[in-house]
Amino acid sequence: FTPAKPAGARSVDEITASRRLRRMRKADWSRRLVRENSLSVNDLIWPIFIIEGKDRREPVDAMPGVFRLSVDQAVKEAERAAKLGIPALATFPKVEMGLRDRTGAAILDPDNVINRATRAIKEAVPEIGIITDAALDPFTDHGHDGILRDGIIVNDETVEQVTAAAVLQAASGSDIIAPSDMMDGRIGAIRDALDANGFQDVAIMSYATKFHSAFYGPYRDAIGTAGLLKGDKQTYYLDHANSDEAVREAEQDLAEGADMLMVKPGLPYLDIVRRLKDEFAMPTFAYQVSGEYAMVKAASANGWIDGEKVMLESLLALKRAGCDGVLTYFAPQVAEVLKG
Ligand code: PBG
Repeated sequence: FTPAKPAGARSVDEITASRRLRRMRKADWSRRLVRENSLSVNDLIWPIFIIEGKDRREPVDAMPGVFRLSVDQAVKEAERAAKLGIPALATFPKVEMGLRDRTGAAILDPDNVINRATRAIKEAVPEIGIITDAALDPFTDHGHDGILRDGIIVNDETVEQVTAAAVLQAASGSDIIAPSDMMDGRIGAIRDALDANGFQDVAIMSYATKFHSAFYGPYRDAIGTAGLLKGDKQTYYLDHANSDEAVREAEQDLAEGADMLMVKPGLPYLDIVRRLKDEFAMPTFAYQVSGEYAMVKAASANGWIDGEKVMLESLLALKRAGCDGVLTYFAPQVAEVLKG
């Protein structure tokens, strides 16, 4: 069978009306000239895990290259991050089992591992920004982000506790409070409490659209909640089928005083990033979460993808979608690569 050429077939020149989009792609210099987005070290926020003890670096199984760090080691990594030019760290604790309880009371200890880490890092590396997670899940013995009573995550009491914790984090030197629990009203309550305690300059990065997601698996291993969590978080995280509701969440958090918005997870939620950026024109971030990191690492370890290229492409895709920056476990690796 020889396919027939249509009678009077148009030439490609006629079809394209001479608008040949490949023209600008032909050389490296012209590709660079018309490139619309770029990834820089200034776009990176590095999430790190903190544990008790000294001189400890525990590898996280499902996140090759990621370690739980004792405070002294976290300080060392903060120094390295600052040298690389990474603007900020986001800290998450793995709390000792004996310190976890029904209500996550240890989040209110001014000397808990997170507050100690903040003070130590701020003292040694004052030029790096510190973002602390105001959420109960590392501190509860059931792994939920709220106070659990009769099978229900109690909203208002959780807000009260998270708010008090946020003030303690600010008092320890945290620059940005990032509440990740999706309780209603938490942003406004935290803003009021920060202001009332003299922390007007401490900002709030709202996990405005945190979706109910299976991509958080390795993180729960990292902070030791994987085996604890009963049920799931559908009654408080956003349904990942929804997009309009994400806009309402962001709108509400901004009205309550959020300085920055975050979308979580990252790559599967590019549409949400773009919607929020277009709608609100606010500083917008995404969290490339543990499961996203693990997928890249696993496929790369098998030789199925080029891990470094996929890392850079996924982060640039988040920038293109509208992110001002990205929380990513790849941060130091990206910074090294960008440095050349
Ligand atoms: C909960 C919290 C989660 C992550 C950080 N804080 C989600 C969860 O465990 O439900 C996930 C981060 C990641 O997967 O990298 N407050």
